[in-house]
Amino acid sequence: MHDRPLVGEGRIAFATPETEFGEGVTDRLPETLDRLGVDAPLVVTDRGVESAGVLDAALDGLDLDPTVHYATTEPSVEDFEDLPDVEVDGVVAVGGGSCLDTAKVVATLLAHGGTASDYLGVDKVPGPVAPTVAIPTTSGTGSQATQTAVVSFDGVKRGMSDELLRPDVALVDPALTHGLPRDVTARSGFDAFVHSLESLTARDHTQVEPRPINYQGANPISRPLSRQALELVHGAYEQAVADGDDREARRDLSLGSHLAGTAFSNAGLGAVHALASSVGGMTGRPHGECLAASLTAGLRYNLPVRREEYADVAQTLGVARPEDDTDEAAEALIAECERLRDSVGLPGSFADLGLGPDDADEIVENTLIQERRIKTNPRDVGEDIREPVVRALE
Ligand SMILES: [Fe+2]
Repeated sequence: MHDRPLVGEGRIAFATPETEFGEGVTDRLPETLDRLGVDAPLVVTDRGVESAGVLDAALDGLDLDPTVHYATTEPSVEDFEDLPDVEVDGVVAVGGGSCLDTAKVVATLLAHGGTASDYLGVDKVPGPVAPTVAIPTTSGTGSQATQTAVVSFDGVKRGMSDELLRPDVALVDPALTHGLPRDVTARSGFDAFVHSLESLTARDHTQVEPRPINYQGANPISRPLSRQALELVHGAYEQAVADGDDREARRDLSLGSHLAGTAFSNAGLGAVHALASSVGGMTGRPHGECLAASLTAGLRYNLPVRREEYADVAQTLGVARPEDDTDEAAEALIAECERLRDSVGLPGSFADLGLGPDDADEIVENTLIQERRIKTNPRDVGEDIREPVVRALE
C-alpha cells in the first residue's frame, strides 16, 4: 500500500510522471519499456488514431507485435469487460484523453483484477498497477500527467483518482498532433487553456483542508507551471486551430497542455470545470464544448475574489492596457477568454448547448456535488451560483 502524500497546513506534495518532450521522442519507447521491465505490452488506442497513421508513427521502432485494445470515446464501466485474454505485463497508451484514461483502468485491472466499478472514487486502488507509458496524440486533457481516469457508470461520469494511476512515463511528441482535425484541436486546446487558468487561480493551498488526493490548491510549485502553460496555450491556440500543421504552434500547444495537466493534477481546478461536468452529464456534449459554455458563468462567479489575479494575468498575456486599473484589467481577461472561445466557434452559453431555464435546478444541484472541483475553487461554491447559471441559460 502506498502512502498518501501529506498535504495541508502549508505542506505541498508534487507528483509528475517521468517526462520526455519533443518531436520524435516516441523513438524512446523501446528503451523505456526495457527499463520498466515490460516485454509484452498491451497497446491501448482507438480506431481513429490507428487509421490516421498516428499509431504506426508512435510505435515505429518497437520491435515486437503488441496486442491492441481499442478504447471507446468517453469509456464506461462495461467497456472493460472483454479485455484481450493474453499475457501482458505493461500498458502503452496512444491516443487522446479517452485512450489514456482507458489505459489507467486497464493497468489497474491487469494488476488487481475485478471490475472497473470496484475502483471508482478516490484512493480505491490497492497497490501498484501495471507499468504504463502514456503517449498523447491530442493537446488537451493532460491525462498523461494526471492521476485520474474518467469513466461512465450508470450514465454518470465518475472519476477514478489515485496517485497510483499516474503514468510512469509520458512521451509527449508534438509531431503526433500535426494534422489533427480543426474541431478536435479547438475542443482539446480549450480544455488545456481552462486547465492552466483554473489551476493558476485556484484556492491557495494553505486554505484547502487536507484531503486524500493531491488536488491541494494552487501552490508555489504549481503556479509557475500554470503560468507558463497559460502563456504557451494562449499564444498558440488560434494558430494551431487555423493551421493544424504549424510546427511552432503545435509544439507550444503540446508543451502547454502537458504543463497544464501537471499543474492542475497537483493544484486542482474550479467552478468552470464543475459546471462543465454538470452540463456534460446532462447533454452528453464533449468536455471542451461544455467548458466553453461554462466559461463566463465560472469566471464571473469567481471575479469578486480573483479580481487582482485576473488583472495580473491580463497584463501578463498583454490583453489589458498598462494604464488599466484592476477592474478594467480583470474585465479585459474575461473578454479575452470569451474572444478566444468565439474565435474558434465554441458554444458560449448553456443555451447554446440546448439547455433552457427549466434546467437551472439540475445544473446547480449537479455542480454542488462536484467535490473534486469545488474544494479548490477560489470562492466557496453555494446556492448563489444559480445567478450566473440562470444568465447562461438565457
Ligand atoms: Fe478538463
